[in-house]
Amino acid sequence: MPRRRNNVALAIVLVVFAFCARYASAVGSTPHSTFSYKEGDPTGPEKWATLQKDWAICDSGTKQSPIDVAKVEVSKDLGPLEQNYKAGAAVVQNRGHDFMLNWTGGNGDLTIEGKKYTLLQVHWHAPSEHTVNGTRFDAEMHMVHEDSTKSKAVVAVLFSTKAGKPSKLLGDLKPYFERLAGKQNATEEVKGTVDPTAWIDNASGYYRYEGSFTTPPCTEGVLWSIMSKVADASKDEIDSIDRVKKSSVEPNARPAQTINSRVVRYYKAGATEGSAPAPAPAPGPT
Ligand SMILES: *[C@@H]1O[C@H](CO)[C@@H](O)[C@H](O)[C@H]1NC(C)=O
Ligand SMILES: *[C@@H]1O[C@H](CO)[C@@H](O)[C@H](O)[C@H]1NC(C)=O
Ligand SMILES: *[C@@H]1O[C@H](CO)[C@@H](O)[C@H](O)[C@H]1NC(C)=O
Ligand SMILES: *[C@@H]1O[C@H](CO)[C@@H](O)[C@H](O)[C@H]1NC(C)=O
Repeated sequence: MPRRRNNVALAIVLVVFAFCARYASAVGSTPHSTFSYKEGDPTGPEKWATLQKDWAICDSGTKQSPIDVAKVEVSKDLGPLEQNYKAGAAVVQNRGHDFMLNWTGGNGDLTIEGKKYTLLQVHWHAPSEHTVNGTRFDAEMHMVHEDSTKSKAVVAVLFSTKAGKPSKLLGDLKPYFERLAGKQNATEEVKGTVDPTAWIDNASGYYRYEGSFTTPPCTEGVLWSIMSKVADASKDEIDSIDRVKKSSVEPNARPAQTINSRVVRYYKAGATEGSAPAPAPAPGPT
């Protein structure tokens, strides 16, 4: 009798095992398997280039993002980022690996070095992808812009919980992040309108370099502006960004890429040629 029970148990184990093995191989062989951020994972960052043909540049590219911002060249030629944003209707979407906010009507534009860029969408990474002299912050917001020739420019804002002060913008969006947690592809319309005007601190300097998207297909030719002034956020706000996959907190930051021959420039109104930038803030908790 006990013997027979053991056989039944063994049969169940075998069926479950066969099912798992099949599932694993299906995931491994599908050309459209989505990417992950887990190092050592079959779909992790070091494997992105092999997952799809047009993702090869994730490995072969020489101008990849993110980077560690360390050595910078002060430049006053760059000039300020001229904001001309306005409020508009928007939706928040859970894209599986992050939350994205997308305006459904107009939202104004941003002028960079005399060129006008429209704001396409905004999304968040936690912890930050860019680091400053090795310091990683709690979150990073990417504001993705495009000019009339479809050239991309991303403005990045770093967030730290160090001061324990909440962020107005993250606080407003937190309820949406919470309701969309764990619901891949789900969207929700934002009540009223969303105005990105105060999201970039116009009193802050910025770091400028040429890079890429930080997610596959890792397309290069992206003009980066990383605001040097780190914004405040509360721990709760960062937690809500972290919970894209509800059940587990999964970081969505690509590791730093080699800078190669690129130069990072630093612009701040009033900064003189050759002077050092404001010192980076002390490391945050993550
Ligand atoms: C990084 O540290 C070096 C050495 O202290 C300093 O010269 C440089 O300006 C710092 N970079 C930034 C972006 O703060
Ligand atoms: C943003 O929303 C617009 C209008 O709904 C849509 O056409 C566009 O594809 C969306 N953009 C992204 C990046 O999802
Ligand atoms: C979300 O959309 C992607 C792309 O269309 C699709 O591959 C995926 O299966 C969808 N996920 C869910 C949970 O619906
Ligand atoms: C910065 O923004 C504030 C408020 O949005 C505005 O009043 C001010 O003129 C701006 N300053 C610069 C230098 O653009």
